[in-house]
Amino acid sequence: MIKLAPSILSADFSNLLAEVEKVEKAGCDLLHIDVMDGHFVPNITLGPPIVKSLKGKTKMPFDVHLMIEKPDNYIGDFVEAGADIISVHSEACTHLHRTVQHIKKHGVKAAIALNPATPLSVLDYVLEDLDMILIMTVNPGFGGQSFIPSTIDKIKALKNMIERRNLNIDIQVDGGIKPDNIHLVTEAGANVIVAGSAIFNSEDIMTTVELMRKNAE
Ligand code: DX5
Ligand code: ZN
Repeated sequence: MIKLAPSILSADFSNLLAEVEKVEKAGCDLLHIDVMDGHFVPNITLGPPIVKSLKGKTKMPFDVHLMIEKPDNYIGDFVEAGADIISVHSEACTHLHRTVQHIKKHGVKAAIALNPATPLSVLDYVLEDLDMILIMTVNPGFGGQSFIPSTIDKIKALKNMIERRNLNIDIQVDGGIKPDNIHLVTEAGANVIVAGSAIFNSEDIMTTVELMRKNAE
């Protein structure tokens, strides 16, 4: 069973709660929250106050994707704001093992995100500590970009790596996922699917969500 995680980056921010209610009603599983700092990625989005404003207003867990430098400085703030899962980029962490422990100490799920060019080997000595791995299927920074096909082999290799070690870790994908290519990532082994523009820019969210689930099978 896959989990769908709509990214609020493509939502109408002037109506954020209504947008969140729409995706919850459509049966989505997680709320993907993209945090960008204008340093790690060339875009700025939102911080803990926005996350906090949604706390308690939806049953969907908050999946916070930190595309920021020095994420350790903000983990506590995002947990307090309501984060249930926190993803940090390996490329942004000098002491990746320490950062993962820092997230876990706060009692939330820990995930590591990898840019398209980052090899899986960075996970070798931290894999056992993770709840989820986020394979970026675009270069982070913006919604609405095109899916990068070379990430399919990477998802397959990660799936093998997890199975070889007998672990139970979610594989999340993020970027350019639409109803017509979702099967490529689920066949490769991904089970948590982020979609921003495909869901929020669609005419009828309910129909799009159903189609994505059907095509993922
Ligand atoms: C990209 C973000 C994604 C993005 C996905 O930097 O991490 O979550 O919003 O948007 P789509 O699905 O439109 O590629
Ligand atoms: Zn994201």
